[in-house]
Amino acid sequence: MSRSTKLFETYKLGPITLANRLVMAPLTRNRAVPGSFVPGPLAADYYAQRASAGLLITEASQVSQQGQGYQDTPGIYSKEQVAGWRKVTDKVHERGGKIFIQLWHVGRISHVDLQANGAAPVAPSAIRAKGKTFVNGGFADVSEPRALELSEIPGIIDDFKRATKNALEAGFDGIEIHGANGYLLEQFAKDGANKRNDAYGGSIENRAKLMLEVSRAVVAEAGAERTGIRISPVTPANDISDSNPQALYDHIVDGLSALKLVYLHVVEGATGGPRDIAPFDYASLRKRFGGAYVANNGYDFDLASKVLETNAADLIAFGKPFISNPDLVERLKAGAALNDWDKNTFYGGGAKGYTDYPTLAAEPAE
Ligand SMILES: Cc1cc2nc3c(=O)[nH]c(=O)nc-3n(C[C@H](O)[C@H](O)[C@H](O)COP(=O)(O)O)c2cc1C
Repeated sequence: MSRSTKLFETYKLGPITLANRLVMAPLTRNRAVPGSFVPGPLAADYYAQRASAGLLITEASQVSQQGQGYQDTPGIYSKEQVAGWRKVTDKVHERGGKIFIQLWHVGRISHVDLQANGAAPVAPSAIRAKGKTFVNGGFADVSEPRALELSEIPGIIDDFKRATKNALEAGFDGIEIHGANGYLLEQFAKDGANKRNDAYGGSIENRAKLMLEVSRAVVAEAGAERTGIRISPVTPANDISDSNPQALYDHIVDGLSALKLVYLHVVEGATGGPRDIAPFDYASLRKRFGGAYVANNGYDFDLASKVLETNAADLIAFGKPFISNPDLVERLKAGAALNDWDKNTFYGGGAKGYTDYPTLAAEPAE
């Protein structure tokens, strides 16, 4: 028996047609080749196994060495990395899938051991986050950052621009800008982390500027119809906070809509935690934004179907369910049981907990 909801209908996202409304959320797995930060052959298998999703979004990929915050995450700033990603996109496309890459700069959520010459990580302001990163095989407090000079900001935008060029060369269908989860672009946007008194600090307009400038630069390379962005208005992830997230994000989304981005991907509530952590009017963002609204955080089949039916979203991103169910689409369609995920194999390691979760077809008939 096959269940019928809007979740399994096609969707036209800019120039591409998605086979269904399920999106695989970006998921960091820390399995890149150490030292070169190239996605290896297992990564191509992993994404290809999940190619029946309407759209895959890759794990966050750093736009520069400075933008890296955790051990063995892949980059998209070197020729070798582009070649590694090409193998991923080819394999996904062979299976009929569509794939965007998530572009990442972690800002202050990093460690001196990941930075060139042991330098301090960079941030809008020299405020250390209360939080940990994973480095040298274990968890460690993030390092004390230094505030970016005004003169360095164009270089950050250029890093996103170059990463976009590289991503297109690697065969990606589009770009997702990582504007969420307490990383650099959100650090600039939110006043808990941004205490600058120059053109990038103070007012909402100033704090939103870097996210919008990066978006404009990515759009200039990839085209608006291939550029999406992820935001998380009220998440406390990575020690981030803001005094007035509704006003801030209403402003940001007006700016993103003017740039005609193809989608707005919203982590509703606390990333990986309660959806109702703080009052926030997501419908206001949906109303303001001209493109597709992608909803994420704690969705299951029933909630996803309901939200699509009421037109509160166009697409639904699933994170953990896609880790443990390569054939999540087929399982949800059939109303079949889902595999549980194993937290111990989320970050780092090899095939175990990565490419060895069984599909329905592989399960013995009862
Ligand atoms: C192992 C793991 C890695 C993640 N990596 C990323 C990431 O690279 N980029 C990102 O924006 N969110 C990341 N997230 C957050 C997920 O994309 C998603 O927002 C979260 O898991 C909630 O969705 P879910 O309830 O469907 O799992 C990660 C979450 C997990 C569990």
